[in-house]
Amino acid sequence: MDKNLLKSYRVIGQISNVISKVDSFDEAIKASLKIMLDNSAADYAVIWYVGSNDKEHLKPYYWISPVDLSKRSYKVGTGPIGKAYKKKSSEVILDFQKKPVKSVASDFEGIEIASVVCAPFEFGVVEFIKTTESGPFTEDEAEICQMLTLLTEISINENIELPDDSANKKVILSVSDVKREYQNGDIITKVLKGVNFDVFEGEFLCLLGESGCGKSTVLNIIGGMDTATSGTIKYLDTDLSTASKNDLTVYRRDNIGFIFQSYNLMPNLNIKQNLDLIAELVKEPRDSEEVLKLVHMDEKARNYPSELSGGQQQRVSIARALVKNPKVILADEPTAALDYATSIEVLTALEDVVASGTTLVMVTHNEEITRMANRVIRLRDGKVYEVTINHHPVKATELVW
Ligand SMILES: Nc1ncnc2c1ncn2[C@@H]1O[C@H](COP(=O)(O)OP(=O)(O)OP(=O)(O)O)[C@@H](O)[C@H]1O
Ligand SMILES: [Mg+2]
Repeated sequence: MDKNLLKSYRVIGQISNVISKVDSFDEAIKASLKIMLDNSAADYAVIWYVGSNDKEHLKPYYWISPVDLSKRSYKVGTGPIGKAYKKKSSEVILDFQKKPVKSVASDFEGIEIASVVCAPFEFGVVEFIKTTESGPFTEDEAEICQMLTLLTEISINENIELPDDSANKKVILSVSDVKREYQNGDIITKVLKGVNFDVFEGEFLCLLGESGCGKSTVLNIIGGMDTATSGTIKYLDTDLSTASKNDLTVYRRDNIGFIFQSYNLMPNLNIKQNLDLIAELVKEPRDSEEVLKLVHMDEKARNYPSELSGGQQQRVSIARALVKNPKVILADEPTAALDYATSIEVLTALEDVVASGTTLVMVTHNEEITRMANRVIRLRDGKVYEVTINHHPVKATELVW
């Protein structure tokens, strides 16, 4: 039997198999793209989608790539992606180096693209990408990409709504090509190897990844507690990468609230005093009683930290972050030390924080928790590996682990 044909049968089997196991369309799409990527020669892959409201633009639905595409869109008919969708036939550019097409190449800032295959399906386009590092697609490989898209379309046969408005979101923090190295004597450890992503105002963003992949390092850099070796970090229009130590301190004090795995409450002050101490330091603090109410800890205002459970102490530390009235809250594994029920209480408090308009960036290694977030950025080996837009985030109380 033809080798490609045999391969397609296998892929169709794999895809139908995962689709029968997952219980939402989003999970089906994610699983299918992973299988497509595994079975093609591509380095990265993106699903572009035409929304139910805006039929003029293709927006990214899901992708596996080191670049945050959340705000990108293509007009139907323009660029290889827009053209493939309009003509309903694949656009294949085998060698960008011979025929540079800037509009696509610029999407992958910092990454040199060798070739792309843009394969249309009914509601959008699957884009397969190869970098110059791994060399361009052969014609056979390009054909397999197109076939994979067709197979997936056959397997997922469902009409869906795309309620994606990320193109209208305001970027509050942007991280571009951030690298962080440590030098110990002659040994240089590269921890972050070129991280790119945006944080949107008001969103709940999760940073996910295995232990040691650099999650805390990223969080500390965007919080101004650590500095990058190279690259740019911007908070609105302020460039943090060139800011002085003093400016970073002011930035941190005025805009950022931190929540850590350990609660770090002052043991000799009661709960309200712990908050008031922080309120003293900032220009426009929130009322400490009010924020304690928000996390349902107002009744414990006169108690001391040692008289509280772990979950209660963590809720107080959320209140302590909130009392500064920060634009952004950065939380590093806030539930790692807590049992399931207590974690849900803390996550519910964080959910309320986001609902009140504060941007939340939370580090976790628990996949289940990421279902609450608006977007999930998975780091692997010091780089962004994939970005997921949760088109239907769930409530903290629906999480199970
Ligand atoms: N001062 C340092 N010198 C050398 N290497 C360091 C230093 N600090 C951190 N690292 C390394 O940087 C990498 C990333 O650390 P980081 O704390 O960001 O990981 P993480 O993803 O938060 O992990 P975890 O889930 O375990 O908290 C680790 O491999 C760590 O060993
Ligand atoms: Mg960490």
